[in-house]
Amino acid sequence: MPSDLLEQIRLSGDLPRHVAIIMDGNGRWARERGKPREFGHRAGMRAVRDTVEGAIEAGVEVLTLFAFSQENWHRPEGEVRALMTLLELYVRRERRDLKEKGVEVRALGDLHRLGPRTRAALGGAVEYTRGGTTLRLNLAISYGARAEIVHAARVLAERVQRGTLIPAEIDEDLFSSHLYTAGFPDPDLLIRTSGEFRISNFMLWQLAYTELHVCSVLWPDFSRENLYDAIAEYQRRERRFGRVAAS
Ligand code: FPP
Repeated sequence: MPSDLLEQIRLSGDLPRHVAIIMDGNGRWARERGKPREFGHRAGMRAVRDTVEGAIEAGVEVLTLFAFSQENWHRPEGEVRALMTLLELYVRRERRDLKEKGVEVRALGDLHRLGPRTRAALGGAVEYTRGGTTLRLNLAISYGARAEIVHAARVLAERVQRGTLIPAEIDEDLFSSHLYTAGFPDPDLLIRTSGEFRISNFMLWQLAYTELHVCSVLWPDFSRENLYDAIAEYQRRERRFGRVAAS
């Protein structure tokens, strides 16, 4: 049954088309329970499931989840392995349900660094869910925004070198179309859990005019109601994109 908050945000009409989330606090959640960090990540997977369903209910078009950063490769080997296993598990287990719900899965990041099993699982889910029109779900994996920008700059530089592009043709739209997020609108709303006020090398280009929402909930405790709270707060904001308020 839809919650009152869900009804309220639906009625308001001004929904964020694209919501991005920095899922933080799995480690602290596990520590509070005297458990290893992997336990927190596993609980975080349940929160992912509920958030995806919440995004569908709310009518969000694009949901981008920061699942594994480039910096995360420096975590202890056991934790990296556990995170990769969870990602594989998530896409293998959920892909059928995601497809039925009309979710199209994409993976964004430096995917070459992933092991063959993880790449195959992700690739399989991307293929299997292709064409879903209810929600586009981006999993940012092995993702770093600076690396993404450098990658786009390199591709454009190569085109200039080959003589198929002149520097004056490089504008914001062309640059955007060489980022991993090509074809997606910029996020309207960024949520970060666990009370940390940082961007952590996430979507630096795309977040230029995004509304930020930091909530103190640790990621494994995040639920669709927290998503609706963030959307309701977003709807109370006035977005000016650097201009003056409309009179
Ligand atoms: C940050 O918490 C979270 C991560 C590094 C990984 C996020 C992964 C999941 C939620 C699980 C699987 C994901 C999907 C898409 C199925 P942290 O470990 O930095 O927590 P801490 O700051 O409390 O130590």
